[in-house]
Amino acid sequence: MLRLENICFAPVDNKDKEILNDVSLKFEKGKIYVITGPNGSGKSTLVKVIMGINNATSGKIFLDDKEITNLPINERANLGISYAFQQPVTFKGLKVRDLLDIASNKKNDFNALCDYLSEVGLCAKEYINRPLDDKLSGGELKRIELALVLARGREINIFDEPEAGIDLWSFDNLTNIFKNMKDSTNIIVSHQTKILEIADYVILLKNGKVEKIGSYSEVKPYIENTTCGRLRGKDGQN
Ligand SMILES: Nc1ncnc2c1ncn2[C@@H]1O[C@H](COP(=O)(O)OP(=O)(O)O)[C@@H](O)[C@H]1O
Ligand SMILES: [Mg+2]
Repeated sequence: MLRLENICFAPVDNKDKEILNDVSLKFEKGKIYVITGPNGSGKSTLVKVIMGINNATSGKIFLDDKEITNLPINERANLGISYAFQQPVTFKGLKVRDLLDIASNKKNDFNALCDYLSEVGLCAKEYINRPLDDKLSGGELKRIELALVLARGREINIFDEPEAGIDLWSFDNLTNIFKNMKDSTNIIVSHQTKILEIADYVILLKNGKVEKIGSYSEVKPYIENTTCGRLRGKDGQN
């Protein structure tokens, strides 16, 4: 279990700007948590604090009772936390298959590579030898990023707005990926109704504080009452 206790975060160069304010949360194994809330409410900051990309100003983080508050990103990764970026990163000179091998820490045969890629709706034959560069579309990069998370097979997976850029791909495929990852804890930042619907728990953030936590039906009225908290439709258009 991952546990946050009284987490606060303010930027180093602006200590008065509290972006996260006394956030305490528990994330249990095998559950899907969807963090939602208005733009600027602190969602990305919160998941970056979990991964160690941002360091909490105060408060504590525990993973299975081991305190990880001051551990760097790579040590948290070794303990089983994985993070998929909101904007996928490109790696010059590396092919998709190289990254999948690095992510899974082994040399994969074609069938194994095919499994990871078909899960995210990509045809392995077409993609395994593609270089990871700006010739790939945002949607393709995003799916590759998701395939890398699957290949890592970590215990806790963090996704920041995984739906961004994959509007042409059916949301059912995306939600199925999360539903199939039953052995891990998935923490997903999203505004999408379809993703909120598969959550075991929805966490509503507002002004850096947890406004409400519960099932989607419990939290939904609070989302609707939040300024700018308008839910996006099926195709992410509005
Ligand atoms: N390092 C930083 N320095 C100053 N302001 C920041 C920093 N990181 C985030 N912010 C601000 O904190 C607020 C929350 O940001 P963020 O967590 O990205 O929001 P969300 O993901 O919910 O849209 C925003 O107003 C953002 O501009
Ligand atoms: Mg964000």
